[in-house]
Parts: sequence; structure tokens; C-alpha cells
Amino acid sequence: MRPVPKLPKSVEKGSVPLGVLISGRGSNLQAVIEAIAAGELCARVAVVISNRAEAPGLGHAARAGIETLVLPHRDAPSRAAYDARLADELKARGVELVCLAGFMRMLGPAFCDAFPRAIINVHPSLLPAFPGVDAQQQALAAGASVSGATVHFVTPELDAGPIILQAAVPVHQSDTAATLSARILAEEHRILPEAIQLIAEGRCRVDGDRVIIGPPLVDRLR
Ligand code: GRF
Repeated sequence: MRPVPKLPKSVEKGSVPLGVLISGRGSNLQAVIEAIAAGELCARVAVVISNRAEAPGLGHAARAGIETLVLPHRDAPSRAAYDARLADELKARGVELVCLAGFMRMLGPAFCDAFPRAIINVHPSLLPAFPGVDAQQQALAAGASVSGATVHFVTPELDAGPIILQAAVPVHQSDTAATLSARILAEEHRILPEAIQLIAEGRCRVDGDRVIIGPPLVDRLR
């Protein structure tokens, strides 16, 4: 008989504690909340943290009964101090996977070290193309005929860590930044929960700059 592979502790317990960081609308957060409610995700949102008090996404969290926290970055004496506070609040709630879902701040090396290979970000382009802000407008300006969404592990470099999942969408001649954003967003809402589930199942192995996705749990247990 083959030995049963060892599963990550959180999977054995049944749910990975997530910390979701937002700055605004929170539609990706909502997609995660809905995937959990639908039983598609072996995870639970332990806390939602926003750097902006007015972020509409905080409402999604509150309606789902999730703890929310506002940590305005302007109150922090330095970037490093802000990152340290953020890490402390997440650790205090037992967070094992940090999801940046429209969090409009870069996180420094100390924060990345506090959650090794356990921070992911969703970005509205096919990275490494069009990193940074206004990725959809960048795709239009470049005359790209294809763009999309990326979920990747976070490193201190902007939008540059190992890619977990991507989804492509066509760019139409008639597109505006708004129409292209909407098409990409639908894919973000699909691949962010999928990526979280891959990690929750212990299927993502980082090899250099690449993510190797292992077989489904059910095959490993056979
Ligand atoms: C998304 O397009 C995400 O890729 C980008 O910021 C946007 C956030 O949208 N990083 P929402 O707040 O999740 O609705």
C-alpha cells in the first residue's frame, strides 16, 4: 500500500484561515466569500483589513459576519512600521494565507518574510505584461489583442512573484478600460478562489520563479 501523503495542517482541520487585504470595492473578496459559502473552498476568512475606512468592500465582510479592521497607512510613522503592524494583526488572528484583493499598497521584504510563500495577489493583466496601476488601460494603449487576469505569489517586487493561475480574455477594438476591466474581473473572480483552493490543498510548489501544481488531493490519497 502506498503511504498516504501528509496534508497541510489546516486542510486536516478543514479550513485555511485567510486574511484578505483590500483598499476599495471588494468584489474579489466577495467572490471568495461566495466560494466559501458554496463549499468550493477549504478556507475561512479570519479577518478583512482595509487601509481605507471608506472601502465599500468592508461592507461585504461585515454582511458575512467577518471581522473587519481599518489600518490607515497614513497613521503609520513609516512603511516598515505599517507592514509590521499589519503582520502582527494577521498573526494575532492565526492567518495562514494572506490574499491581496485590490490592496493598493506595496508590501516590504519584512512583511513577505513574515508569511513565506503565503501571500497572493490578483492582478488584472497577464503578468509579466502590464504590471502596476491601470493595467487594463496599459493593455489598450499597447494595442494588445489578448489580456487577462493573474494570481501570483507576492514578492517585494511589484506584481512580479511566481504565477499560480492565469486566465486570458480577448481585447476588442471597441473596448474601453471599463468594458475590458469587466471582462477581466469576471476571470479574477473565478481564478482567485481556485488559486486559494490549490494552496489549501497543498498543491502549489514553488520551484525558482515557477509554481508547479501537483495532482488533485483525491489522486494523492488513492
Ligand atoms: C482588481 O481588478 C484587482 O485585480 C486589482 O484591483 C481590482 C480590485 O477590485 N488589483 P475589487 O476591489 O476586488 O473589486
